[in-house]
Amino acid sequence: MSTVLITGCSSGFGLETARLFLDNGWNVIATMRTPRPEILPPSERLRVLTLDVTDPDSVHRAIAQAGDIDVLVNNAGFGAPSPIELTSLQTARSLLETNTLGTLMVTQAVLPQFRQRRAGVVINVSSSVTLKVLPIIGMYRASKAAVNALTESLALEVAPLGVRVHLVLPGRAPQTQFSENARAHMLGLDHEDYASTVQGFISSVRSDGPITHASDVAAAVWLAATDPTAPARIPAGADARQWMDEAQ
Ligand SMILES: NC(=O)c1ccc[n+]([C@@H]2O[C@H](COP(=O)([O-])OP(=O)(O)OC[C@H]3O[C@@H](n4cnc5c(N)ncnc54)[C@H](OP(=O)(O)O)[C@@H]3O)[C@@H](O)[C@H]2O)c1
Repeated sequence: MSTVLITGCSSGFGLETARLFLDNGWNVIATMRTPRPEILPPSERLRVLTLDVTDPDSVHRAIAQAGDIDVLVNNAGFGAPSPIELTSLQTARSLLETNTLGTLMVTQAVLPQFRQRRAGVVINVSSSVTLKVLPIIGMYRASKAAVNALTESLALEVAPLGVRVHLVLPGRAPQTQFSENARAHMLGLDHEDYASTVQGFISSVRSDGPITHASDVAAAVWLAATDPTAPARIPAGADARQWMDEAQ
């Protein structure tokens, strides 16, 4: 029976992905900063481990506890909408530490066992905002564009060792906790020069149109995990597929 380890399972895409793999008979190691096993269906195949992707001790402890895994899903992340000029270095560092370096650190901790077995799949959840130039989320886009770059280089490095690497690019998913968490970091709405750009960004985000559901992301992760012919970049959600088509 195959085993998947997923980061950021307390809500949204991570939670839905853990459910999908459990439903399909996999062993699931659902990791969370604050473990809440009760949010997932009880199962002998479920383990919930503590993992903060910004904390090296936490990462190494969780990966040691996890034992053998077949698929790693780097999903933990957050957003902080703010014009570039107003983005504090502290916020920029937090975005990079969680979204980029967190992905790097967990991947580095898992790769030795994948190389040893000449098997394994790394799936990194990035974002479709890396496909389009957009204002107000520049630092978030930078943190995810870096994930794209390191993922694509890693894929070339470990393909000869039997390890597959994929990017999942979700579109806008208003039903997860992402937007609410991001709102707490939002800056610029009261700025004399940036307020109208921030307001324009908010309106464009709220406008009608195709969106992404957590089930789209879980399905894209499932495809990457189970189909050796899956593309290296997988858009998740109707809006993400549209943006991918426009970018090509
Ligand atoms: N929703 C969207 O519109 C959207 C679009 C494209 C890409 N994405 C990306 O998709 C991923 C999942 O987002 P989501 O929409 O499911 O948002 P979400 O509901 O806010 O889930 C984010 C998850 O990441 C976890 N997390 C944050 N910082 C962490 C850390 N330092 N260590 C471990 N876990 C951490 C959160 O845990 P806590 O509960 O402890 O905070 C939560 O479980 C993120 O990487 C996000 O950037 C989201």
